[in-house]
Amino acid sequence: MTYQPELSVLKDGNAVASTAARVIAAHIEDSPAAVLGLATGRTPLAVYADLRGRVARGELSFDGVRCFSLDEYQGLPPGHPASYHSYMCRELFDHVDIRQDDWHLPDGTADDLAAAGAGYEAAIRHAGGVDLQLLGIGENGHIGFNEPGAPFESRTREVALAASTIRANASEFPPGDTPPTHALTMGIGTILEARRILLLATGSRKAKAVAAMMTGPIDPAVPASALRLHPAVTILCDAEAASCLSGDECG
Ligand code: GLP
Repeated sequence: MTYQPELSVLKDGNAVASTAARVIAAHIEDSPAAVLGLATGRTPLAVYADLRGRVARGELSFDGVRCFSLDEYQGLPPGHPASYHSYMCRELFDHVDIRQDDWHLPDGTADDLAAAGAGYEAAIRHAGGVDLQLLGIGENGHIGFNEPGAPFESRTREVALAASTIRANASEFPPGDTPPTHALTMGIGTILEARRILLLATGSRKAKAVAAMMTGPIDPAVPASALRLHPAVTILCDAEAASCLSGDECG
């Protein structure tokens, strides 16, 4: 069974972020013990800023909300400035009233990464599964760190990063640091078990990946195309990220 994700093309990145933050805030208001799946990267930065603002103004509380991040670099200590652990603390967790025990990231420093992946899956299951999963999309169509070719039934595991992903994320690392080549990521199968999925894409660099996700073959060559196997996916794009969807030739 395949589905067509609901697509909203919004004016710009700010509109994408404020719409996404509104959806997440409404979800938390309806379900104060919600389980959120959270993404990193540049795209959701303004979403987290919006959510922090709501908490600061007393309009929203994360008390009781559980959060599971999608992925983490392999071998980076949690305190490294480019770790996703640091990112999530800096952008959200340090600024909201979430309880320390209620947020989780895959442990990229574990000696046994297979056991860490299985443990992460168990923790998600124990929390009752992800209610709302926030996603970005890589220029090559990746979701989380599931690079092209990742099986649709994959679970949280160690993966090798594509060279283009390492290049795209290199600016997150201090000068002189060598970015990791591997990561621990929720699998595509893990992501597809979320009850609802919200994917954000902004900027022309994402236009081809968005078109491939929405209109190309449903195939592991484009990991995000797996989202068309899920009945409750919303895609929020700005006009640039949607610019290859018209069917016209897209450079
Ligand atoms: C990164 C992350 C993904 C993210 C994607 C897009 O590598 N692992 O979770 O969605 O690539 O990142 P950005 O939003 O910075 O373009």
